[in-house]
Amino acid sequence: PEVISVREFAEKLGVEPNQLLQDLIALGKFVAINQPIDFETASKVAEKYGKVVKLEGVEEEEEKALEAELVETPDREEELEPRAPIITVMGHVDHGKTTLLDYIRNTKVAEREAGGITQHIGASVVDIDTSEGKKKLVFLDTPGHEAFTAMRARGAQVTDIAVLVVAADDGVMPQTVEAINHAKAAGVPIIVAINKIDKPGANPERVKQELTQHGLIPEDWGGDTVMVPVSAKTGEGVDELLEMIALQADLMELKANPNKPARGVVLEAKLDKKRGPVATLLVQSGTLKVGDAIVAGLYAGKIRAMFDDKGRPVKEAGPSMPVEVLGLEDVPLAGDKFYVVESLEKAREIAQKRQELARQSALEREKRISLEDLFSQM
Ligand code: GTP
Ligand code: MG
Repeated sequence: PEVISVREFAEKLGVEPNQLLQDLIALGKFVAINQPIDFETASKVAEKYGKVVKLEGVEEEEEKALEAELVETPDREEELEPRAPIITVMGHVDHGKTTLLDYIRNTKVAEREAGGITQHIGASVVDIDTSEGKKKLVFLDTPGHEAFTAMRARGAQVTDIAVLVVAADDGVMPQTVEAINHAKAAGVPIIVAINKIDKPGANPERVKQELTQHGLIPEDWGGDTVMVPVSAKTGEGVDELLEMIALQADLMELKANPNKPARGVVLEAKLDKKRGPVATLLVQSGTLKVGDAIVAGLYAGKIRAMFDDKGRPVKEAGPSMPVEVLGLEDVPLAGDKFYVVESLEKAREIAQKRQELARQSALEREKRISLEDLFSQM
């Protein structure tokens, strides 16, 4: 159903109805316990608890049928090879996510951003030296964590490790808590970067104390969460943080089969006036090659050119690698999955079916919504 009552929703979320009512009031919604709440409101509240609300409808089943066509044959153990970890940097606004990434990849993105707020997911591949030799780490910078939520809502889980940035002069804030809930709900291990320790008001111990209240106990207090004090400005502690990330990644023994047609997720996409649709794809398995025919979300395409995270042209991209690609026929959505198929013809056929389905479910949705409008007028 399009709507759900406060009571039912509270039950599904596993929170007290009274708590839920308060959450709703905080959003400016004054409703009674047996009244329905709409999808958008439900989504906002669910986010606070690290949950994702989905619309039920025809699309799901038919989509499943379509996905079935594209089912991935399971890999045999001997086909798997180690892959780099995908690390998502999360945390409250202005706590220093982009600055930390800038320091790590030696760029100055934070300064160039309009108003300092991250507008897109940047993906960067970083080579680091650890005590066990060279390692690759792939970082995703999230704008707040809406993108993370949007991806999870679409069933795309790309993150292996979450780095939670908490500013030592500000402490745990609402979005810090949301990030913790997201990572926990996704079952992703969290490494905490206690940032801005160079600032006069910095109090890393207080941050640890506050995090304890959210179930993250630092290792030096007998818990199992790694917390590294850093300064994204001076670089203090950053090497240790990277070492800890690499260590966590080693424990996870991440693997994928690089020797098959690629599949993965759209991280971002836009229409470029000169180059046409441009998409940043994250390859999750297989190897993506120039000339491949792909379906990304609702659209088909043939990879015309491919660039790595530093803008250098590449011919191939294996598991865990983010690449910018040209050649899609339209702009997919962040979180859409992509698949390599045998020909552009096949890709177009699948894309067409999907567009048809999308139109149908849009119609269904309209129907349901107008029904409810009728109700509310009665
Ligand atoms: P959003 O993308 O808006 O969520 O912010 P963000 O978390 O990416 O923060 P950003 O990196 O843009 O940093 C916010 C401000 O904090 C900037 O003015 C940075 O220069 C400053 N900053 C970040 N890290 C540090 C640090 O370690 N020390 C000091 N002194 N300032 C920092
Ligand atoms: Mg940022």
